[in-house]
Amino acid sequence: MNRPMLELESISFSYTEDKIPHPVLVLDKLSLSIEPGEFVSIVGPSGSGKSTLFRLITGLEQPGEGRIHFEGKTAADRLGLVGYMPQQDLLMPWRTVLENAVLPLQLQGYKTERAAEKVRGLLKEFGLEGYEDRYPHNLSGGMRQRVSFLRAVISGCNLLVLDEPFSALDAITRLSMQEWLLEQWTRNGKTILFITHDVEEALFLSDRILMFSQMPIASVKEIMVPLPRPRKFDDLTDADIQTIKTELISELRKSASFR
Ligand SMILES: Nc1ncnc2c1ncn2[C@@H]1O[C@H](COP(=O)(O)OP(=O)(O)O)[C@@H](O)[C@H]1O
Ligand SMILES: [Mg+2]
Repeated sequence: MNRPMLELESISFSYTEDKIPHPVLVLDKLSLSIEPGEFVSIVGPSGSGKSTLFRLITGLEQPGEGRIHFEGKTAADRLGLVGYMPQQDLLMPWRTVLENAVLPLQLQGYKTERAAEKVRGLLKEFGLEGYEDRYPHNLSGGMRQRVSFLRAVISGCNLLVLDEPFSALDAITRLSMQEWLLEQWTRNGKTILFITHDVEEALFLSDRILMFSQMPIASVKEIMVPLPRPRKFDDLTDADIQTIKTELISELRKSASFR
């Protein structure tokens, strides 16, 4: 039997920095499991702990309690095992597209020239050919997202965690980015965890949706998306999908009104 790609076992986490008078419990013995090759979205109100979960998965934060397993192994030091696209693109303004994209490879010890060669080989596929010498401020929002995504993919990690990657885009650019992401995912066979506040986006992309309600998060509601692949945007008009969408929105409203 296949091992889960990622398994969180009874994870608890609070922020306990000096500047916070009382620790805020964000996750309360949360368990969940992601299978290899799955596309799973996380939806929930803002401030419910979604980004915090990603910071734990990537190893930027450590859980107070519980364990995180990768492909069956306990991974205490997870930094570098997960391709991470944070909520803000975090491109360095003084580095060009190419110089930004090579960063994860440089951190893995690649020589600059080899890293650059690897990135150049991917520019076309990521719609960035001819833009490698531009600086981030000379790129559209969609292009910056693609550089950030390329950087997550080039890390070579089998698990990608993408935090609201398309939230800043207009509706049409967002749709083409979604289609492009599905195509990438189909081709590369990675496992993707994807945070969004957009229910339609989650339904269009995912095999499974996990719903966060109000903090602390002790469990998540799970919704399977009953759509075949490959998907078309029209599939969202399906009656079953409309019902699920209405339910999801009403759940989100309920949890948002607790706050
Ligand atoms: N670095 C931090 N220090 C202290 N509290 C934080 C920090 N980051 C987030 N929080 C708090 O943790 C909670 C969850 O935040 P976050 O995970 O960013 O939520 P989401 O991504 O769902 O909007 C919020 O109450 C937020 O204010
Ligand atoms: Mg967030």
